[in-house]
Amino acid sequence: MIAATDFIPSAYSQTIDKGQFQWSAPSNIALVKYWGKKGNQLPANPSVSFTLNNCKTITKLAFAKKINTGDFSFDLLFEGKPKEDFKPKIQKFLERIEIYLPFLKDYHFTIDTENTFPHSSGIASSASGMAALAMNFMNLERTLNPEMTEEYFYQKASFLARLGSGSACRSVKGEVVVWGNHANIQGSSDLFGVPFPGAIHYNFKNFQDTILLVDKGEKQVSSTVGHDLMHNHPFAERRFTQAHENLDQLITIFENGDLDQFIKIVESEALTLHAMMMTSIPYFILMKPNTLQIINAIWKFRNETQIPVCFTLDAGANVHVLYPNKVKEKVLQFIQDELVGYCQNAQYLCDEIGVGSVQH
Ligand code: PMV
Repeated sequence: MIAATDFIPSAYSQTIDKGQFQWSAPSNIALVKYWGKKGNQLPANPSVSFTLNNCKTITKLAFAKKINTGDFSFDLLFEGKPKEDFKPKIQKFLERIEIYLPFLKDYHFTIDTENTFPHSSGIASSASGMAALAMNFMNLERTLNPEMTEEYFYQKASFLARLGSGSACRSVKGEVVVWGNHANIQGSSDLFGVPFPGAIHYNFKNFQDTILLVDKGEKQVSSTVGHDLMHNHPFAERRFTQAHENLDQLITIFENGDLDQFIKIVESEALTLHAMMMTSIPYFILMKPNTLQIINAIWKFRNETQIPVCFTLDAGANVHVLYPNKVKEKVLQFIQDELVGYCQNAQYLCDEIGVGSVQH
């Protein structure tokens, strides 16, 4: 089994004075949710997600050698302009990954980042952002150590991204990614995300995710606070076991393409995540009235048409509408006709399953 210490490098064979890389990484949507952590950013239960394609962060990393004065040195640009309020998060990330990338204090970095989705749309950019940055740092490490294998490159990128934001470790690769030890998924690890190694039925090919923007406001509960609420939560242990069970069922569903069973697991996972928040101390309701309107409209439409469309939620009010590619036209029409009115400023984002990070 791979241990965190395996990602501490020995001396590098190459040197480089300056240069730049550019990588994009997408967001991802969890089917079995990660909610609750232990130790150093390790998940309390395994999760699985679809990697997205259109909602992504594009990050350019320029680096120039400097004298190591014992501090990190970096400028942060968001859409070309300095963004001071993002810096503390990056500083913390650098502190966490320094032992795995011992060259970080030998360079001045310029991190230039942008998202393809609207700023403050309520879509978390931490997963795509941390994954894109981790890819760039790994590109630099691979330059210093060209002997590194492709597998190590991606595993370590995911490992580093996890230290920035847990779910970011599922944004490095596509299309279906598992993070967290699961007895029946070979190669699964708490340390990094891995592409789901089993068979995936044609029904899930080009699977669609239309994200309905119900509430674009600031998150009511940060995910850090949310994960903490699972400590001493009355239902935590049962919930963690349930995640293992649901993932077990998904292994079979991915293989046989049973969309009815898929829907049951995915919707139950979304509501369970919210149930955990409603039953913690302090407690929160993160859904808005329009979230419930949308859920009811989806259930009614599904009942009436037998079209296999379902929803999932993250830790907020926005709704991800999930459906197979073959019913795309009908579902988009339904969204236009019946759901857009529940979105803030009629806004929604069309996305689909994707392959993960890409170098530009
Ligand atoms: O990566 P974090 O710490 O922001 O946690 C994300 C948690 C959920 O989005 C609610 C679920 C998940 O598995 O992505």
